[in-house]
Amino acid sequence: MRHLMNPLDFSVEELDKLFDLANRMEADPARYAHACEGKKLATCFYEPSTRTRLSFEAAMLNLGGQVLGFSDAASSSASKGESVSDTIRVISCYADICAMRHPKEGAPMVAAERSGIPVINAGDGGHQHPTQTLTDLLTIRSLKGRLGGFTIGLCGDLKFGRTVHSLINALIRYSDIRFIFISPPELKVPDYITDMLTEKGIAYEEVIRLEDCMPDLDLLYMTRVQRERFFNEEDYVRLKDFYILDKAKLSAARADMLILHPLPRVNEISVEVDDDPRAVYFKQAKYGVYVRMALILTLLGIEE
Ligand code: NCD
Repeated sequence: MRHLMNPLDFSVEELDKLFDLANRMEADPARYAHACEGKKLATCFYEPSTRTRLSFEAAMLNLGGQVLGFSDAASSSASKGESVSDTIRVISCYADICAMRHPKEGAPMVAAERSGIPVINAGDGGHQHPTQTLTDLLTIRSLKGRLGGFTIGLCGDLKFGRTVHSLINALIRYSDIRFIFISPPELKVPDYITDMLTEKGIAYEEVIRLEDCMPDLDLLYMTRVQRERFFNEEDYVRLKDFYILDKAKLSAARADMLILHPLPRVNEISVEVDDDPRAVYFKQAKYGVYVRMALILTLLGIEE
């Protein structure tokens, strides 16, 4: 039995297969409409989410399966003091596969150790968010035709943003990637990440102003300031509007640069950018469903 805790749980070759499958699903969804008939997906969300939970549910429904679950810790037995290990043992009796989001780093891993069914980490605290990373990689691969040989700017809350940590982790396996980290000093990417990049000899730069690197970028990954992980509201208020990508800033970008965002967006991308052909964040949300469909099928071991 296989789980997904970290994007690195799949080899580059396995990811290629997964993305090929996701692209086939995009091209011919009807062919997969009954692939998971009789199977159930449990979504156990101990932390708020719209996109991730609903995209998992949409993915399972598109495959002809069914879904059950809870969307907030207060409405689960966690509020009575039940451990995730016990919860997953029980869920294993009800469902065939589980997607779990938890505010504590490592909680889905603890669950996986006790689980009778595959567990997918749907985001654990500020740590990892592997299915968002699979979404990001599939989006880049589908729209750029490759997963290497580019300069990517990651902008915003690089300290608390788990999508950023997961994506960096996954991208370093591809060749010729250069990172530009764009953040205020307070929200810099954690040292363990820059240390790891230095150790592996992967090129990166840290800048404060988006304008300073815009013309260099093939990809721009925007993120929101992660309010829920701040210790005080004052810091959040001071930093929340540090970056606002608008048409004026975008005028310095390449014509084929892609703008990605895991969403939800707050103020960091002005709505006037949404109609720019480089803005692909809503397409990205669509790829999120295809990649989750491919993942569910793969972890359930269902042959095409
Ligand atoms: C992200 C997350 O939950 O970390 N959202 C998502 O899953 N698309 C990004 C965020 O909340 O900022």
